[in-house]
Amino acid sequence: MQQQRDIFVTNALPFANGDIHLGHLLGYAQADIWVRFQRMLGNNVYYICADDTHGTPIMLKADQLGITPEELIAKAHAAHLQDFDRFHIDFDNYYTTHSKENQQLVEEIYLTLQANGLIETKTIEQFYDEERKMFLPDRFIKGECPKCHAKDQYGDNCESCGATYRPTELINPFSAVTGKTPVMRPSEHFFFKLSDPRCVEFLREFLEDKARLQPEAANKMREWIGEEGDCKLSDWDISRDAPYFGFPIPNAENKYFYVWLDAPIGYFASFKNYCDKTGGIDFESFIKKEKATAANTEMVHFIGKDIMYFHTLFWPAMLNFSGHRVPSQYAINGFLTVDGAKMSKSRGTFITADSYISQNLDPEWLRYYFAAKSNGAIDDFDLNLDDFVNRVNADLVGKYVNIASRTSRFIAKEFDNELGDIAAETKALIASIIDRKAAVKAGYEKRNFAAALREISAACDDVNEHFDQMKPWEIAKDESKRQLLQDLCTGYLECFRLLSLYLKPVLPIVAGKVESFLNVEPLSFAALTASLEKGHKIGSYEHLMTRLNRKDLDKLIEANKEALAAVRNDAADNQKSDNVKKEVKAESKEADAGDYISIDDFGKIDLRLGKVLSCDFIEGADKLLTFQIDLGEEKPRTIFSGIRKFYEDPAALIGTYVIVVANLAPRKMRFGVSEGMILSASTKDQLTLLTTLGELAPGAKIS
Ligand code: 2FM
Ligand code: ZN
Repeated sequence: MQQQRDIFVTNALPFANGDIHLGHLLGYAQADIWVRFQRMLGNNVYYICADDTHGTPIMLKADQLGITPEELIAKAHAAHLQDFDRFHIDFDNYYTTHSKENQQLVEEIYLTLQANGLIETKTIEQFYDEERKMFLPDRFIKGECPKCHAKDQYGDNCESCGATYRPTELINPFSAVTGKTPVMRPSEHFFFKLSDPRCVEFLREFLEDKARLQPEAANKMREWIGEEGDCKLSDWDISRDAPYFGFPIPNAENKYFYVWLDAPIGYFASFKNYCDKTGGIDFESFIKKEKATAANTEMVHFIGKDIMYFHTLFWPAMLNFSGHRVPSQYAINGFLTVDGAKMSKSRGTFITADSYISQNLDPEWLRYYFAAKSNGAIDDFDLNLDDFVNRVNADLVGKYVNIASRTSRFIAKEFDNELGDIAAETKALIASIIDRKAAVKAGYEKRNFAAALREISAACDDVNEHFDQMKPWEIAKDESKRQLLQDLCTGYLECFRLLSLYLKPVLPIVAGKVESFLNVEPLSFAALTASLEKGHKIGSYEHLMTRLNRKDLDKLIEANKEALAAVRNDAADNQKSDNVKKEVKAESKEADAGDYISIDDFGKIDLRLGKVLSCDFIEGADKLLTFQIDLGEEKPRTIFSGIRKFYEDPAALIGTYVIVVANLAPRKMRFGVSEGMILSASTKDQLTLLTTLGELAPGAKIS
């Protein structure tokens, strides 16, 4: 028998100044599925998270809202907890980094690193806002890009040309907090000596453990660290000057720990808080180096690829040189795209968890889709909306749920919900589902949920095919075959029980409903060897899951566009603070940058090549020309165009080719109906009609 594992699992801690959105939920769903799977195997799992509460943006946001940072993070905590709960993310503890446990651990770790000679101070020069009396982080300095001269760019990189630079390189820099020109000021900072040969040597060894890191992550680390003899790592600035919302650095005046130092220690702090509340868990056996090695405990971090640098370099080095255990495994996920593009606020694809629930969409649909396409690699994940609908309706409802609904009908109607024996005809089918156990488990274990779900889906196909071949609806017509009908349906329900067990990590709520419907104990992998028995009474079947309607997803997208508009209006109305307006301006700028139309949007415009048959002035109209255009249709179209002032001799256009929007709604004008639009390019004083380089038959489609 395999030994029970003791696993401490974490998810990245979300910042307290933002809503949970689907990009977050991908990583949380992946972790939650893995955790539920481990629990179903009987392993001890402690699934821990917290809000990431410190830093300048949180301090400034609270200020803008006229509340304290403590009030702001309390609100975020309640909202985040509710979102996670609604998506069935089953943390054992959801805490905060702004806690006494965290402060104590942070100080201990820092002081040990200092005692080990890994902290040093250096004086650096930084931009300072004299009005707000604070040093400015790069993101709060803006100015003109030194490369492409785009205005209003951030202090670290240009969104227009993609260049990266130091804030001091910006042309005409200004503070994003007050709008004032910042000045350079010296300040003493504390650094963690990541470039120390001890750290470098440790990290090189650390990344070689194949069970610890996905290959792409190990490669990335190798690249960051650099070749032997050519170390690319720099020391890490871990301090910030007051004012700052965070923990003060011991024995230093007006210095605070940078948020990224205390955030991962927040994993430990939240776990400690849980252990203290619960009792009976040896906390140190999960976090202290010697004790963790002796107890063989595991620590697994689920994170997004954007925060790999912090988690795979600073964090393990800090842990190792402060007497702590290092992560045993990383599960790193890529970014979420929607219909192949980056999530965008203006397009409504920056979908919040709250809006998804508010549209009455089922969280388990999304969990299923996330699982169905997660293969354990760091690749980006595309939420393709049509594919989402199709997989939920065809696979989940059409195949899996269908087995229960079509079988339970007979058991309820004919046998008063009492089961028979498992029909001999279904035994091989059941054995084949049990045979898939190893593949399903391996898929879950390696976080290749897609592979596990493919097995389950293939098993669903087998059951449905068997059902179709046996035709229970025909058997039901024959009084002499009642026993066969009852036994067959019992066999199919046993199949359904096994499939529900396999799907339980992904669909915990559906699995709970199945447990009540089948009237069985909570399903775990140990329950694979049990079986439904003759004479067992099941509950009445209630629909397990509805179908997903594409129109509801469209509404979701619309709702997210509206939410953005509401934020803009609120901010515009808020006369209290200029800062809010600045932030919204920054946000809308970001949104506008991604303001594309889809290829489908473009496809809605029916552009055609047209031949000008006639072109004339209109009496009494000083702006219009009237055209007769051949679009290869039965008769030419009449189109009025407001371009008269550019053409002295309209007849000269006769015989030329123009480009026409052919599906523009006809427009009634004083001189008749205009049946399309002719495209032109113009500046203030000049205009030219658009045409093609070669001649094609009138009506040729332009795309
Ligand atoms: O990127 C983020 O959202 C961070 N708040 C993640 C922190 S994870 C850990 F370090 F605490
Ligand atoms: Zn630029």
